[in-house]
Amino acid sequence: SKIMLSGIKPSGDLNIGGYSGALSQYVAQQHDYDCYFFIPDLHAVTVYQDPKELHQRSRDVAALYIAAGVDPNKAVIFLQSQVHQHAELSWLLETQAHFGELSRMTQFKDKSDGKDTVSSGLFTYPVLMAADILLYQTTHVPVGEDQKQHLELTRDLAARFNHKYGETFTLPEPIIQETGARVMGLDDPSRKMSKSNPNQSSYVSLLDDPAVIRKKFSRAVTDSDMSVRYDWESKPAVSNLIEIYSVFSGDSIEQIEKRYEGQGYGTFKKELAEAVVTKLEPIQKTYHELVHSEELDRILKNGADRAAEKANETLLAAKRAMGFVTF
Ligand code: AMP
Ligand code: TRP
Repeated sequence: SKIMLSGIKPSGDLNIGGYSGALSQYVAQQHDYDCYFFIPDLHAVTVYQDPKELHQRSRDVAALYIAAGVDPNKAVIFLQSQVHQHAELSWLLETQAHFGELSRMTQFKDKSDGKDTVSSGLFTYPVLMAADILLYQTTHVPVGEDQKQHLELTRDLAARFNHKYGETFTLPEPIIQETGARVMGLDDPSRKMSKSNPNQSSYVSLLDDPAVIRKKFSRAVTDSDMSVRYDWESKPAVSNLIEIYSVFSGDSIEQIEKRYEGQGYGTFKKELAEAVVTKLEPIQKTYHELVHSEELDRILKNGADRAAEKANETLLAAKRAMGFVTF
């Protein structure tokens, strides 16, 4: 069977970049797979998280998965920290990962660049991610472009383990969509839209008020000539907005270019903002109903139980393969 797993860290405002690259894919593809959508809270704490905020954001992300359309009766939704097998398999895989290959991870290089100290968890982060994926014999992992290298490492670790100890893990494939896999900042199209950017107008949070969303798009940077044309080479800022428009409206890039042919940026940006608001308003409504509910606790508790059952099977197989005494 086909198994899908993915997750979004509770480390900042879930924004339209994460929606575009990850969450919208979960919703669109969930019916073709057995799905595990989890909240990688253990990954979030590789950089300091205020405890109160971590707590709230973990619930926020879970509620947003469901509000965006992930079906909790079908998909297993859970918090990573509640399934201890993740941390345990991560250790076993750390003994297989090479210092050199982890040193080459671009996300680690970016996040450690210019810092006096970084946690060793930030360095081993991709190994924990491999454990997340391999525990469920995952076949497909929908992610944004920035996670591609981590998926390659996951495959390498799985293949290395299987080769040394016998077939234990399934090698997963990333699913990276053509449009919207790398949404750039609204303030700077050369930088990825990121929830850790302190400049809040660089991104649109899924929980921003409609008025704020409209303002952020009206202020988004554009390119010098006034045409709505898709061309990353010469018009990165507008190309980025066109991709966002396409993800939120479902219209193709060509349809959007055609609609605004011969017009300036004004109407285009207004209607882009409306497309995003139209999509997000019902999501926000459901989010508010769910986030403080006992129903959410129940879903997460049940999800952790279901996840642990599957995770335990794989963990035991890996321990046996390595020669640990198990009963
Ligand atoms: P993170 O928020 O870093 O946990 O990312 C969650 C998911 O969203 C991952 O699959 C990322 O690849 C994806 N993602 C994050 N930021 C963006 C972005 N700016 N454009 C597209 N995908 C993104
Ligand atoms: N590393 C991912 C990110 O930064 C989050 C993540 C952790 C993840 N474990 C995962 C994504 C497993 C997919 C599968 O976005």
